[in-house]
Amino acid sequence: MARDRSQYRCAECGAIFAQWAGQCGACEAWNSLQEHLPPPAVRGGAGPAATGWSGERAVVRLSEAQADAQTRLPTGSSELDRVLGGGLVPGSVVLLGGDPGIGKSTLLLQTLGRLAGTSPVLYASGEESAAQVAARARRLQLGETDLPLLIDARLEAILDAAADCRVLVVDSIQTLFSEAVASAAGSVAQVRECAARLTRLAKTQGISVLIAGHVTKEGALAGPRVLEHIVDTVLYFEGDSASQYRIVRAYKNRFGSVNELGVFAMTEGGLKEVTNPSAIFLTRHARPVAGSVTMATLEGTRPLLLEVQALVESSPLGNPRRLTLGMDGSRLAMLLAVLHRHAGVALFDQDVYVNLVGGLKVTETATDLPVLLAALSSLRNRPLPVDLLSFGEVGLAGEVRPVRGGQERLGEAAKLGFRTAVVGKLNAPRKPIPGLRVLALEHLDGLGEVFAQLVE
Ligand code: TYD
Ligand code: MG
Repeated sequence: MARDRSQYRCAECGAIFAQWAGQCGACEAWNSLQEHLPPPAVRGGAGPAATGWSGERAVVRLSEAQADAQTRLPTGSSELDRVLGGGLVPGSVVLLGGDPGIGKSTLLLQTLGRLAGTSPVLYASGEESAAQVAARARRLQLGETDLPLLIDARLEAILDAAADCRVLVVDSIQTLFSEAVASAAGSVAQVRECAARLTRLAKTQGISVLIAGHVTKEGALAGPRVLEHIVDTVLYFEGDSASQYRIVRAYKNRFGSVNELGVFAMTEGGLKEVTNPSAIFLTRHARPVAGSVTMATLEGTRPLLLEVQALVESSPLGNPRRLTLGMDGSRLAMLLAVLHRHAGVALFDQDVYVNLVGGLKVTETATDLPVLLAALSSLRNRPLPVDLLSFGEVGLAGEVRPVRGGQERLGEAAKLGFRTAVVGKLNAPRKPIPGLRVLALEHLDGLGEVFAQLVE
């Protein structure tokens, strides 16, 4: 398709001209002609009614609209379905973001390969050649699958080819370009236009569209953040690309919960689901080491156990360092202030480093108590028992607050062989859990005592 010619519209009277001129030929206003893109009605012959956005059926009854909505298409991967909120919603647009090489193309190709047998699908790639996609498919044991492939970066070609499929994968939004926009692929205008038109296709034809998007070093999607507002669901790939495990987390989901995680392992044959991930982030030390505590975090409905490490080291700097990996840095500064005020432990001349091992980012506040225990253990150079587990939020008044799902977290820990737990008083189980000694802490002023008990 040739690029549409721009038109010029008078900002005063709205008259349209094919060429720019200094004066409007209709109303004779000066300097009022501005470039604008012709509307889709002129371009594709599809008027507003045909696109479904307006026209006769603009107003529907809520009761009727609900009746045929929400029949989800299972993706064949229980972990992906979990983050999506129970499968793909027809007519929805899902953006899958992540660092280069983390496995976006792999996950999308695998998913589409599974769906190809039962639904009409299309894999559109502007990034790789057919041979490259085929090579990957062979690795994923999809070599025999009859998967329609479109190697094209032109949005218009993709829209044409996708007209009667049910699931469309676009890899990636940054390589896509529309002939209607003059700027280069990957620019803000291109990304926005392509995403908007893919969304329109999804909504009008009921196609589920999955879009891969690159993420910059700062963690934002390259291209505009506006992308996140256009699409229905934003999934991010997390994890250390050096480690085997990959986490898919929902950041926005119009059709499901946002705290669910999907856990995968990258293997020689592609991404495999990890259906029981509770202990994969846990490194067990052969002997107790100072500054290490295991915490239980609850992501969605599943508890995950992971190691919290702290290193407290006297600082040569006037303004000691506070560095965190996997948790919020300003929260650490706040916790250290609370530790000083309410437990009498001063760390103002110490550098404090905290690392949540395994590359998982934890945003919930249950990390507070384990972080303080690990810091104390490192400061005093006294290892805590290896079978110790902790979680709990710490408030500015020094109170230890309960977190949700205490019972699930403790139950999972007991199952994995943990023998002692330090938690907030309100998280202490009413019925004792066999084999698990629970030390309940109401306020940080009791931390020293609990610590002494643990390192005895
Ligand atoms: P890829 O899916 O291309 O990442 P993205 O699209 O997010 O840039 O690549 C994922 C990485 O995983 C790549 O470095 C190679 C590796 N890999 C495997 O380990 N096993 C496999 O079966 C495949 C297909 C890729
Ligand atoms: Mg890719």
